Amino acid sequence: MMQAPQHNTTLTINGTPHRLELPGQTKLLYVLRNDLQLNGPKFGCGLGECGACTVLVDGRAARACCIPLSLLHGREVTTLEGLSQNGRPGPVQTAFIEHQAAQCGYCLNGMIMVTESLLRQNQTPDEAAIRNALAGNLCRCGTHIEILQAVRRAAHLKAETTAP
Ligand code: FES
Repeated sequence: MMQAPQHNTTLTINGTPHRLELPGQTKLLYVLRNDLQLNGPKFGCGLGECGACTVLVDGRAARACCIPLSLLHGREVTTLEGLSQNGRPGPVQTAFIEHQAAQCGYCLNGMIMVTESLLRQNQTPDEAAIRNALAGNLCRCGTHIEILQAVRRAAHLKAETTAP
């Protein structure tokens, strides 16, 4: 059986440089979960449809189940684990905890990472912008109201932490 050719990918994950020797078509989600034990990103659909696997690539939300390593050379990846600050939850994580915005919690990685991405681009998103940002992330439990409240709270907390 032919083996897929190995590919050298150098990238930064949560601020730490990594050099990975894996086939270039290996999807980022498998590397994070299986090789690096970063289990914040979840495997949901594996097809780019649910958002459970969301990470940030160069600060923007991206679906790790669909991104091959070959596209990540020189890029900066942030996972849920990378949002903590000095070992404590970051502002977005804190807001989701405060509002108890999880039932089963499986979607929460994606909801938090999309919120982080949104707030990096727009510090004062209106209701439409928030709903638009979250529209592609599926939650089957029904904590949508709490999730929306958490995003609004996250915007406040982030503004506080970045205020001069
Ligand atoms: Fe990646 Fe569903 S697991 S979008």
